Amino acid sequence: MKVTVLGAAGGIGQALSLLLKTQLPAGTDLALFDIAPVTPGVAVDLSHIPTAVSVKGYGQDGLTDALQGADIVLIPAGVPRKPGMDRSDLFNMNAGIIRNLVENIADTCPKALIGIITNPVNTTVAIAAEVLKQKGVYDKNRLFGVTTLDVIRAETFVAELKGKNPAEITVPVIGGHSGTTILPLLSQVEGVEFSQEEVESLTHRIQNAGTEVVEAKAGGGSATLSMGQAAARFCFSLARAIQGEDVIEYAYVENDGGDADYFAQAVRLNKDGVVEILPYGELSAFEEKSKTDMLDGLKKDIQMGVDFVQG
Ligand code: 2OP
Repeated sequence: MKVTVLGAAGGIGQALSLLLKTQLPAGTDLALFDIAPVTPGVAVDLSHIPTAVSVKGYGQDGLTDALQGADIVLIPAGVPRKPGMDRSDLFNMNAGIIRNLVENIADTCPKALIGIITNPVNTTVAIAAEVLKQKGVYDKNRLFGVTTLDVIRAETFVAELKGKNPAEITVPVIGGHSGTTILPLLSQVEGVEFSQEEVESLTHRIQNAGTEVVEAKAGGGSATLSMGQAAARFCFSLARAIQGEDVIEYAYVENDGGDADYFAQAVRLNKDGVVEILPYGELSAFEEKSKTDMLDGLKKDIQMGVDFVQG
């Protein structure tokens, strides 16, 4: 199996690459691409860790080689937020980066499973889909917006509040990956009860968690370590699915006839990507209202991506 990280020398890319080097199955090839001059050094650095995962670094001119034969491509490339910015403020910088990288994926490894981390994810996934459609290689089952960070944050915050072990808490998170489009289904968390006040404050904290990090880093960027961990978990789920396991993971995927053209929810995976989008079940009145209130915003985010490519 070959896993390629595009934007491997950035904050998320380095954390993610470390986790992949140490935890991907033996025999996996890890290809690290970035335009930053430090990229070969990141690869050499990681290559000294004694695991049976080979690491190779690719700079500026190495994109095609990095993508050749890739089964999974993860994309954290792009610029992060600064305090006061919304994820959508990154559109101008990151939309073009995603378009270019996905064009190269379409030409070189069109069958790869693609995980998009670059913000605004609500929009960049639509950009990627449109680029793949233009190239005639789009398969909706192989394209994912990585929303795992919302899930792990929700699990962490619930466990913290209720004095539980986070490993024993599961929180479905549906919708998108920005502000109120992030919708944790706290009514479905097993083994814990919340007051209405707790539901409201926890929901707000989960929706605002990325901004919590951006503000704490005070101009030094957004989440890199927790995002690296989240993207690694997502990649391990894809890798297990490729190896034949039946895997369920949350992701932002095309959802014909769903709430919006792209929507995050639980999906069943196999070696070809999504085999089934799982229903998210019954929502509480609060969740139902939150979903109704955010759908227009999510649809606008998606349309912006479609328009960017279709012009
Ligand atoms: C976050 O949620 C970086 O979007 C990422 O923090």
